[in-house]
Amino acid sequence: MTVMVDRTGARPLLVSADHPVALVLGSGFHGLSGIIKPVRRVPYEQVDGYVRPADDQTGHTDQMTMGTIDGVPVVVYPTRLHLYQGCSAHEVTSLVRHAHACGCRVAICIGASGLVDGTDDQAIGMISDHLNLTGENPLRGWNSGRDPFVPMVDAYDRELRQMAYDVAREHGVELREGVYAEVVGPSLETPAEVRALRLLGVSYVGMSLSLEVIMARALGMRVLALTLPTNPAGASWVSHRSVRAEATSATRELGIIVRGVLVRLAR
Ligand code: HPA
Repeated sequence: MTVMVDRTGARPLLVSADHPVALVLGSGFHGLSGIIKPVRRVPYEQVDGYVRPADDQTGHTDQMTMGTIDGVPVVVYPTRLHLYQGCSAHEVTSLVRHAHACGCRVAICIGASGLVDGTDDQAIGMISDHLNLTGENPLRGWNSGRDPFVPMVDAYDRELRQMAYDVAREHGVELREGVYAEVVGPSLETPAEVRALRLLGVSYVGMSLSLEVIMARALGMRVLALTLPTNPAGASWVSHRSVRAEATSATRELGIIVRGVLVRLAR
């Protein structure tokens, strides 16, 4: 097992064959799983706590892939569960618990969002903090023997954010830090909600990520969360399809950041 100590020596970073990096992707971002060299696949049905969402009409099961990206061990979850699909907070976070059980101590979570600042700027968002507006918490009633009173200061790991910044700068990819608000959905935001989010200092609004991050932190995992703003929040033309199409178009830039961070983690 490789144990890497960060530059300050404050906290160890654990990345090795025993401790792969977890990548949890929103549905439009599954293209990123194309950069993985697969070793083993596990159908989501075999993930403890996973349920097929009530709204799933595809009939197929997604698969987690273990493998490597540029030689760095990873476990990739190409889609996730959402509250808006009728899943509970516990179910939504089953993939994160699975990643932890697979040895992952670092999670990179990626999802789409609406941009709250009133522009249609499409820089990739790097989440620095969140507002969990779902009214749910995956640690409520969680019978794990772990302390559920998890501090959420620096939940979005500073060192990983710095790495992502460095990679973005090096490759000319635009990355903008901001606060993410998670809502349940699936209806989109009203104009009043968008105004309220702006007043609350929110940059990005989406329907995932924060519950996963809470679970990851409860398990002691370090987190980097990226979001692609696929539309201005509250825009009338937004659809699931438009979100997926936008998300797919950013695969290259996101791939650059992910690969760069992975390589730095393994250095
Ligand atoms: N609102 C909430 N979630 C989203 C949006 C949005 O506008 N776009 C993509 N995910």
